Amino acid sequence: MQKVATISIGEKTVEMPVISGTLGQDVIDIRKLPAELNVFSFDPGYGETASCNSKITFINGEKGILLHRGYPIGQLAEHASFEEVIYLLLHGELPTEKEYKSFKHTLITHTLLHEQIRNFFNGFRRDAHPMAILCGTVGALSAFYPDASDITVPAHRELAAIRLIAKIPTITAWAYKYTQGEAFIYPRNDLNYAENFLSMMFGLRSEEYRINPILSRAINRILILHADHEQNASTSTVRLAGSTGANPFACVAAGIAALWGPAHGGANEAVLKMLTHIGKKENIPSFLAQVKDKNSGVKLMGFGHRVYKNFDPRAKIMQKTCHEVLAELGIKDDPLLDLAMELENVALSDEYFVQRKLYPNVDFYSGIILKAMGIPTSMFTPLFALARTTGWVSQWKEMIEEPGQRISRPRQLYTGYAERQFVPIEKR
Ligand code: ACO
Repeated sequence: MQKVATISIGEKTVEMPVISGTLGQDVIDIRKLPAELNVFSFDPGYGETASCNSKITFINGEKGILLHRGYPIGQLAEHASFEEVIYLLLHGELPTEKEYKSFKHTLITHTLLHEQIRNFFNGFRRDAHPMAILCGTVGALSAFYPDASDITVPAHRELAAIRLIAKIPTITAWAYKYTQGEAFIYPRNDLNYAENFLSMMFGLRSEEYRINPILSRAINRILILHADHEQNASTSTVRLAGSTGANPFACVAAGIAALWGPAHGGANEAVLKMLTHIGKKENIPSFLAQVKDKNSGVKLMGFGHRVYKNFDPRAKIMQKTCHEVLAELGIKDDPLLDLAMELENVALSDEYFVQRKLYPNVDFYSGIILKAMGIPTSMFTPLFALARTTGWVSQWKEMIEEPGQRISRPRQLYTGYAERQFVPIEKR
């Protein structure tokens, strides 16, 4: 029997269908509200609103569960290559061996950038933040692939998706190379996705780059852990921009902009800056006192999440990976890692964080791993954008392919002046 929710305002009552998904909470379909009761719902920040149907990612924030197309994140991070995860997110199933081979070939043959795109990099200051370069250059791709603008053609959508996912490592690595004043390194068809990124990021024209399997495994895992996270701020931005029918390259540029903020993708960079600022274990209590003082504006970066009110499952894997990478790189007693672990322990037993269910999120440890790998702080968020491009593109494609897809257009509760009369300037 169809479950319903009933809302009454004065004499009028309306019944609204309660819809169940495969997993997770039911939702109330409130679309009848304005027509039947002349009201909207009010949900600033959309924390309690399901903005779409999706089959891609499931999160249970209370239990700390994250599934991609039904597969637990832990299993994917342990056993899959990033290319398998791309295929899974885009197409809904893990690839067979034959599909995998052909998909990898398709991806690798789209990694090159149009040679004119090289010129775009020269337009940026050398000290530009790589996220600024990423945002501008990915947006500029829309000028190179106007065919992608006709998103009603399935083949165009597929090609745009592949181009975005295949080219983003090249753009990200070149953004870094540009800020270093080093020559761009071209992608290599004999390397996998993670290896190619490392080769373009750390390789030099003057010598052959040797792939370190420890580093490429760690990058592979970091990419998987950041690949998608349902309707977060940047993904919702991509969907919102995409809902107007805009070019997908421009939509992903919008997602990159949304990811940049310290409350979202910029947090990994902020964690490292915070740890450096704290400096030593003895300073933890005074730092946490600042965090708890609402007037200070200081937050414990890498802690808290809009959805997870329990451990972020990605943070657990990241913590384990962090120890593995440091051990394999021969880094013993890393002072930042020691400080991070102590900070985590103190915060997890502090009433302020316990009461508010604030746990470490994925970014608490990712910065330490990236730093150990020699990736500079300014590249942390670009690396996140690189990984999340797969999620953005999969979510964008799912939205466009949804029957009856409409433009996203939230409403508001207006709290400004009621209508008033214009006053000429000399009388104000
Ligand atoms: N440090 C201190 N206090 C915090 C923190 C934090 N990191 N996070 C939340 N709080 C407090 C809030 O001030 C609030 O306190 P109050 O109830 O006394 O007013 C309470 O905890 C509840 O927080 P919410 O309002 O539910 O948090 P919200 O969902 O709005 O924000 C967010 C989530 C933005 C991630 C926040 O926790 C934060 O800023 N964390 C630090 C930045 C960070 O690590 N971001 C990465 C997120 S994960 C990602 O994007 C991959």
